[in-house]
Amino acid sequence: MTIKALLRQPYLPGLPLGDYLDQIGKRFPDFGRVLWFDRKGAAEALAGLSATTNEFETNDDDGRGDSYRRAQLNRMIRARGMRTLFTLAAGVPDMESIPPGWTLLDLLGGDGLLARVFASMAPRPHHAVITSDMAGHMVAAALHAGLPAIRQQAQFLFMRDESVDAALLAYGTHHIAPEDRLGVCQEAARVLRPGGRLVLHDFEAGAPAALWFSEVVHRYSRAGHSYHHFTAAEMAGHLKLSGLGSVLVRRVYDPLVIRGGSAAEARNLLADYLFDMYGLTGLAFPQTSLDDLRQTVWKLAQYHFAHSAKYAPDDAGPEWKREPVVYRDGAEWVAEIPRVALVAVGEK
Ligand SMILES: C[S@@+](CC[C@H](N)C(=O)[O-])C[C@H]1O[C@@H](n2cnc3c(N)ncnc32)[C@H](O)[C@@H]1O
Repeated sequence: MTIKALLRQPYLPGLPLGDYLDQIGKRFPDFGRVLWFDRKGAAEALAGLSATTNEFETNDDDGRGDSYRRAQLNRMIRARGMRTLFTLAAGVPDMESIPPGWTLLDLLGGDGLLARVFASMAPRPHHAVITSDMAGHMVAAALHAGLPAIRQQAQFLFMRDESVDAALLAYGTHHIAPEDRLGVCQEAARVLRPGGRLVLHDFEAGAPAALWFSEVVHRYSRAGHSYHHFTAAEMAGHLKLSGLGSVLVRRVYDPLVIRGGSAAEARNLLADYLFDMYGLTGLAFPQTSLDDLRQTVWKLAQYHFAHSAKYAPDDAGPEWKREPVVYRDGAEWVAEIPRVALVAVGEK
């Protein structure tokens, strides 16, 4: 395909590739310089992108996209785990130590939630996080919010070798088919600068958070959720086979936390979040009251996120709550659902 024809290819909703590139060049020139759409195989990857849809591409009629984006409005719910992922990706003890100009490619970035959370935590706000996702509507939403963003499959990146300081695969890695996972890690390793870090995050196969997906999300969401979660050995193996060194796999406390003016308000807000985030429409019958629905969701969370014998007491650090709780913090009430993630880090 000629370059001219490539630039006319549909890329984002209502936006051909050429217009997207113009926009990026003007708004995010540094990012524009690392784009590589004339890479060998790019035309096929672009065609594949338009032909592929996933549940996040769609709206409430047939997928999870709209309800998912609604849940994201409350953006700090998963902030505690995200903070840990940012510092692991930068190899520093805290957010204050992340150097200016450092860049992180968020490969399953959705509509840019992590970029926004990063900006709210970073001491010197700048566009450190590049949002990357295969779903056109997600990427369009991120761009609309003023974030640098790119539509691409994690399997084939339209970006040059050694173009970012860190790459993150998180909050959805189990959506990548097992046979594609090594290739995805190798692609991520390719775009890392020497010394850069790849962070791979999932909820470990067989752990409470993974069982929440298989027992609750799969059963009650319209899109279902039949995915294989990672094991520690799989994570470590993929990072090593991607040429990364100093590979370490650890457990990270990654709770859902929400605040309210009363105990009931905090608990209801978290139940609503779970309902929207996971699209649990199968729990809502026409005769179900909102109150009953919230209680059902909360009870399911209490059952599935209770302490698991899989973990030793100190596995997820001192903050780890052993079951969903609602507690007072000064004038506010906090509802917290404990999740323990499995996180691997490797260095180029
Ligand atoms: C669960 S969402 C997470 C979004 C965001 N990171 C967050 O935490 O809210 C997973 C995202 O990964 C995207 N995704 C899934 N498989 C992908 C792939 N192979 N390449 C690129 N994006 C993918 C989906 O389109 C979706 O937006």
